[in-house]
Amino acid sequence: MMVLPDIKREVRDRNDIVDIISSYVSLKRHGGNYVGLCPFHNEKTPSFSVNQRDQYFYCFGCHAGGDVFTFLQKYENMTFPEALKFLADRAGVALPEVEMTEEMKRNVNRKKQIFEALKAAENFFYQQLRSERGALGKRYFEQRQLTDETLHKFHLGYSLQYSDALVNYLRKKGYPDDIILDAGLAGHSEREGLYDKFTNRVMFPIYDPAGKVIGFGGRVMGEGTPKYLNSPETSFFEKRKNLYALQLARASKASQFILCEGYMDVISMHQAGFTQAVASLGTSFTPEQAMLLKRFERDIYLAYDSDHAGTDAALRAISILRQTGLVARVINMQPYKDPDEFIKNLGAEEYQKRIDEAENGFLFEIRILRKNYKTDDPAEKTKFETEVARKLCVFSEELERENYLNAVAEQYGIPKDSLKKRVISEAAREGLKSAQERVQIRPVQTEKKSNAEEHAKYAQRLLLTWLNEDRSCFTRVKEYISAEDFTDPLYRRIAEKMFADLEAGVFRPVEIIGMFDELEEQEAASQVFQTKLGTEVAKEDKEKALRDIVLRVKQESFDQASGTLGSDVNALNRVVEGKHILEKLRKIDRI
Ligand code: UTP
Ligand code: MN
Repeated sequence: MMVLPDIKREVRDRNDIVDIISSYVSLKRHGGNYVGLCPFHNEKTPSFSVNQRDQYFYCFGCHAGGDVFTFLQKYENMTFPEALKFLADRAGVALPEVEMTEEMKRNVNRKKQIFEALKAAENFFYQQLRSERGALGKRYFEQRQLTDETLHKFHLGYSLQYSDALVNYLRKKGYPDDIILDAGLAGHSEREGLYDKFTNRVMFPIYDPAGKVIGFGGRVMGEGTPKYLNSPETSFFEKRKNLYALQLARASKASQFILCEGYMDVISMHQAGFTQAVASLGTSFTPEQAMLLKRFERDIYLAYDSDHAGTDAALRAISILRQTGLVARVINMQPYKDPDEFIKNLGAEEYQKRIDEAENGFLFEIRILRKNYKTDDPAEKTKFETEVARKLCVFSEELERENYLNAVAEQYGIPKDSLKKRVISEAAREGLKSAQERVQIRPVQTEKKSNAEEHAKYAQRLLLTWLNEDRSCFTRVKEYISAEDFTDPLYRRIAEKMFADLEAGVFRPVEIIGMFDELEEQEAASQVFQTKLGTEVAKEDKEKALRDIVLRVKQESFDQASGTLGSDVNALNRVVEGKHILEKLRKIDRI
């Protein structure tokens, strides 16, 4: 039987990371690396780098990083076993029965069971809608004029009145309570134990872009609150990172996506033949969703409600889309409220016309802005024009800005030259991108560590980076430092493997990145190997700097060991030996 690290290595070695990533991201050769625009955050200048020699990627902007498996896990939302299978198939490697550690088995199993439970629930709701007990749901959808074909295409379903129908069904299928709970399908109370989260609602399964069920929305039939009850936010059901019906819309041949506000809008659009429609999941449109859409290189047409709230939501979406580098257009649905109503009243042909006539997002913004000013009053007119100039500053590229400037000037009868002058003076004041447009996707900040701890971590990271870059110094470093001296748990694990591998002359960074199960750990490990010392340590001081770093790492280790004396037998050794080495280090200025 082959063990997992071996099979993982084999599959990785047979799939060049540059090949894989290039099929999603356009990469250019740059020095020894390949660089491109990061697919995990929005940027205009490339900070995403793929290291071919060592087979890993790292983004200097958002710190995403890892090996070829990590990439697919992050980009395609695959689980590790899925990524392994995908790459094995691609390279024609037969996957043997793999021997995994107990912990890995548990984790893989949990995730698998959760997705299976969700799939089973989807099926259960689907069956109920088609059974006698689902008559109410069936009637509701009929009232909404959905055809059987549509009900099937979206796998719409129905949750029964009884508060334990699904829970019992899943228990009978052998799912343990904690899986049912973690799948977001049940609530828990002291008195009743588990109870169904969704009862007496028509059910809308929600999928990830690859078509895996990750959650549900359940609508009351008629009035009632909440109108839609959605699955709770979990690590696999993240509303801000998914879009309703994207798994279907991605297959549409249309040159755009149509972004709607609601599930029902999407469904009636698809029924009318507009299979390019998607919707957010009950939250406003997010930068993550924009990044997700960006992969498909289509324009985004907005079909938001034509009321005040819908207009506000459209304005926000336009701004996010522009920052992501996507063209937005707005579909006018007057005199109707939403696509559902529009299509029911005027039909698909008329809707297609509205798509063809959709208004450019920026011009839409200006038209809405204009409503705030009485432009027959000269003072108000000036204010409006200044505001237009300010908004034009969001275009940092001259040609694009010129085109928009010309269009707006023509539409509102503003002399081009004076508008241009105003743009220049606004740009001089604020820079070419107004502050409110500079929303970035930031990696989630973990809890703030104390300064001293951050300092110690930094020295440890630097030492690892150093050893990677200049492997010849290992023999000198190991006289003073052992893997035990790394007090940060993650760096400790890296150091343990790195020291052992360097000693044996088999060190490869990608092996270390691949040791970790969690994406965050893989990212942190990639950061260690991708960071260049050049930027952090000036060349002339290099020799001295190495000694300083070694001293800092040793000192921290010593301090920590002294603090745990008495509770840890190992600590005594570390203290005795550490004291000796520290004295030695303080006497020399290079190692
Ligand atoms: P809408 O109220 O416009 O729903 O909310 P809809 O999809 O058009 O449904 P109908 O036509 O009124 O039946 C838009 C979206 O906001 C989210 C859902 O994603 C919904 O599709 N929403 C709305 C919730 O998550 N919870 C709610 O209580 C209401
Ligand atoms: Mn609606």
